[in-house]
Amino acid sequence: ATGEDPLMSLPKAELHLHIEGTLEPDLAFALARRNGVTLPYASVEELRAAYRFASLQEFLDLYYACMSALRTRRDFADLVLAYLRHAHAQGLRHVDMFFDPEGHTERGVPLEEVVEGLRDGLREGEAELGVTGTLVMCVLRHLPEETSLRTLDAMLDRYGDLIGTEWTGIGLDSSEQGNPPAKHARVFARARAAGLRLVAHAGEEGTPEDVTQALDVLHVEHVDHGVAAAGSAAVMRRLADEHITLTVCPLSNLALQVTPDLARHPLPTLIAHGVPVTINSDDPAYFGGYLGDNFIAARDRIGLTEAQLVACARESVDASFATPARQAAIR
Ligand code: HPA
Ligand code: ZN
Repeated sequence: ATGEDPLMSLPKAELHLHIEGTLEPDLAFALARRNGVTLPYASVEELRAAYRFASLQEFLDLYYACMSALRTRRDFADLVLAYLRHAHAQGLRHVDMFFDPEGHTERGVPLEEVVEGLRDGLREGEAELGVTGTLVMCVLRHLPEETSLRTLDAMLDRYGDLIGTEWTGIGLDSSEQGNPPAKHARVFARARAAGLRLVAHAGEEGTPEDVTQALDVLHVEHVDHGVAAAGSAAVMRRLADEHITLTVCPLSNLALQVTPDLARHPLPTLIAHGVPVTINSDDPAYFGGYLGDNFIAARDRIGLTEAQLVACARESVDASFATPARQAAIR
């Protein structure tokens, strides 16, 4: 079926993709073996069986545990290549790729191994597939702001010359409960001054007010998830008026029980209120589907029309951090 569905060949950009969330169990075990690392699961089957999440935090605990398999520059390049091959077969043309530097530096992996590996993977993927990509570093909101500031400074120090080309932005991810956007306000102010584009997860498990705070305090241009905005007509009107794009992830929302049922997903409400939305996969190895699979779920299980899905794909290209020439080539 993959490749035959017209939604699979529809050209798309992905704006909400955590590269660490593309680590499939078989690759996790292969890398763990290569690196002499022991994963907290005995087998691929046992790890897959652990993919049942009652909340964002339950997912994050497993996501951080599996990261321990990733140690070297080649590991990160292989991870990127595996993702690009998989997503390219589902219509991916460009990705603004999230990565969590602190998920690696906090366990002793040098920043350079991470970033050089991701750059290698993007370069090799472009040569092989013609897919383009940029990097968006995310800071972990559960860590103190001082840690995020140090992480941003280390990135600016080492990779500031890549801003606007290979490195386009900064995001905010990890545990939303108890870690509002304002906690990392200084990091975002510093990133903005350095010429980075700004995005943040808000209103995934949170409230419409969390979405508003990400706009007012962090000045983000996209809100990642943001589905809680559907609970407030005023917030939806603001997103529409200011053309703030939401990067919605249907299969993620189902897997983390943000929505009890895709038939009750907020996407149709957001679209009806004129909010610019895109469809994305978030952590496809964990949530049961890559980019095209999320488009198909949005059609078959949420009920979006062909025209609405084409508009989502178009918005993904227009709102991406690809150059205007690249955007035009994809459209
Ligand atoms: N939400 C918050 N943090 C994350 C996610 C997410 O969906 N995926 C990876 N880190
Ligand atoms: Zn996410």
